Amino acid sequence: MKAGLGVSALAALAGLALGQNAITENSGNFTLTADGMSYLFHVDQASGDLFSDHFGGPSTDFTPPAQIYQGGWSDGLTNVRREFPDVGRSDFRLPAIHIQHADGNTVSAFAYQSHEILQGKPSLPGLPATYGEDADVSTVQVTLYDNYSDVTAVLSYSVFPKYNAVARSFQLHNNGSDEIVIERAYSFSADLPNLDLEMIELQGDWAAEMNRVKRKVQYGETGFRSTEGYSSHIHNPFFALVSPTTTETTGEAWGFNLVYTGSFAATAERFSHGFIRVLLGLNPLHSSLHLAPGDTFTSPEAVAVYSSEGLGGMSRSFHNLYKNHLSRGVQTKQTRPILLNSWEGLGFDYNESSLVTLAGEAEALGIELFVNDDGWFGTEYPRDNDTMGLGDWTPNPAKFPDGLGPYVNDVNNYTVLNSTSKLQFGLWMEPEMVNPNSTLYHEHPDWVLHSGQHVRTLTRNQLVLNLALPEVQEFVLSTVHRILDSANIQYIKWDNNRGIHEMPSPATDHAYILGLYRIIDNLTTTYPDVLWEGCASGGGRFDAGLLHYWPQSWASDDTDASNRLTIQLGTSLAYPPSAMGCHVSAVPNGITNRNISITYRAHVAEMCGSFGFELNPSELSAEESAAIPSIMAEAHKVNPIVITGDFYRLALPDETNWPAAQFISNDTNTAAVFAFQQKATVKPAAPPLRLQGLDPQARYWNSVDNVTYSGATYANAGINLPWATADYQSMLVWLYKQ
Ligand code: GLA
Repeated sequence: MKAGLGVSALAALAGLALGQNAITENSGNFTLTADGMSYLFHVDQASGDLFSDHFGGPSTDFTPPAQIYQGGWSDGLTNVRREFPDVGRSDFRLPAIHIQHADGNTVSAFAYQSHEILQGKPSLPGLPATYGEDADVSTVQVTLYDNYSDVTAVLSYSVFPKYNAVARSFQLHNNGSDEIVIERAYSFSADLPNLDLEMIELQGDWAAEMNRVKRKVQYGETGFRSTEGYSSHIHNPFFALVSPTTTETTGEAWGFNLVYTGSFAATAERFSHGFIRVLLGLNPLHSSLHLAPGDTFTSPEAVAVYSSEGLGGMSRSFHNLYKNHLSRGVQTKQTRPILLNSWEGLGFDYNESSLVTLAGEAEALGIELFVNDDGWFGTEYPRDNDTMGLGDWTPNPAKFPDGLGPYVNDVNNYTVLNSTSKLQFGLWMEPEMVNPNSTLYHEHPDWVLHSGQHVRTLTRNQLVLNLALPEVQEFVLSTVHRILDSANIQYIKWDNNRGIHEMPSPATDHAYILGLYRIIDNLTTTYPDVLWEGCASGGGRFDAGLLHYWPQSWASDDTDASNRLTIQLGTSLAYPPSAMGCHVSAVPNGITNRNISITYRAHVAEMCGSFGFELNPSELSAEESAAIPSIMAEAHKVNPIVITGDFYRLALPDETNWPAAQFISNDTNTAAVFAFQQKATVKPAAPPLRLQGLDPQARYWNSVDNVTYSGATYANAGINLPWATADYQSMLVWLYKQ
């Protein structure tokens, strides 16, 4: 069913010119066209299968596939590039869909039945997803049907032309009369040709998130997964495929990101012919999803982005897509209040009066939002340490004799320095968890995730509530509603401090995540003015699923500013800096013991959308206190460009002693460059800092040299910053178009 003369290509070109028809179909050939990307696939007439043709730079024709010698064991569908591989039918590679039918067999044969092209993008029931108006996004839904099992699969591809992005998901309908079990459901699957590619992913652990690692895509499987029940610190549900010559600014990069918060698996499988099968979706270890007759399963969405401008171009596509078409809260595009969080300064050791004192000290610094972290709740099992109290969300009467209301009023009574605004109040919660030492657990031991009589493994002395159960969802919802209605709370930090071990069944993980989404969808729509910040022992759930509901997430419990550069720049591979929460903490740092100046600590934290402090102001040195007013002024000045501007990684902390990053306003008139020197050096000199994204013809004044240069000069010759011979130096350089 191949279009001989590139008719669809002409339609695609015409569509491009008119800024519409991002999706065309001609005789079974599907062309998805973006500003700098094409995604092509077609229906194979013989098998009814969908074959992958191209995912990359603009391409307007369907060309013949690679010639493969036919012979030996590998033949048939193993030798072609497929979009939705199932089990059996001669393909030896990993399937995207793996179903166990009632009689125990696992073979499927999904064949093309029909398709529909729509402007806009339907939402995914119960799941977070990208969204957009008719002018922003087009969708094609391709219906495949398995004659043998009476199961339908509807594959959905949505193209966002401005961002060179395709969002993909599928729905499975069981039309038969028996239950089926979904053992494997990859949201994204496509076969790339025989290309020499490398995989970049973000691995880490608690307080060590988002380290960029790169390895060659070899024969066999190159991949990683989370079995933690959540997206987790260990691996993020993101990866890029790049050619060996791709850099930050040049070359091809494909980015893949799952819009999901549960266990996942990511794989690039290279077969003997060299084709690379890309798979991203639920972790099969946490699948085995039972689908009753008449029921529908909707897969999470995966977003795939193509860039011919290196990893930087790929990241900016993700950032701008997510800022405009994923993260739906009103605050996403707004500047964020400068906050002070009580955790690193006070821990659990406080009461109402010491907190009001701390809020007063915060107000004197110009803080706009005071956040009461862990430790405020529990009656029978007061939360004075991390061994008890989770689940008992009633203010601890020993700390707050009159509850939260009057205390929050006292905080709100402070007027922010140099302003008429009142100090806002924010609260920490960890609603998905319970300590065995709690009234809740004694009343409802059956509400926690567990597996029969097996041991309920503790982490940080706590267990996980089974959010798959409707009664637990109702408990969490009514608890958070009650707390939010009890006082003037303008921010919630929603924490989650352990992974999932024992579950009633592997499928419970997905049911749990759907329960979580139901809860936070309700809360964010009921309280749209509350600023929600995700957290999971730091950046353990920094994922696109939660970013749909919450505009920001705490990036790491490691607040050491030097380590933070690696974590924040790693996070920025997929997620916008505007979505990161970053704080200045005390020195020596609680984790690394490192002493870094307050200016450097502030510069690192100012690169994030939500800037704040996490220390006790009364313990600041005289030198630190003296620096605060200019830090506050600078943080206010830079926040708008961090929220709305484009982000460029200029130099990485793991590759140079002089890492740097740049924000530029959408009109390219203003740039803010954060530059760092990690260690004092006698020799060599720092390399020139070359900027990106400026208008090459225009002249820009810069705040370091106090002169103007052309955009071309900044990009090619670069600027030389006057570094002192000292460790941990930093600068914020402003550029203004003249
Ligand atoms: C987690 C969070 C911290 C803090 C503590 C409180 O570790 O990441 O920021 O809120 O919990 O227990």
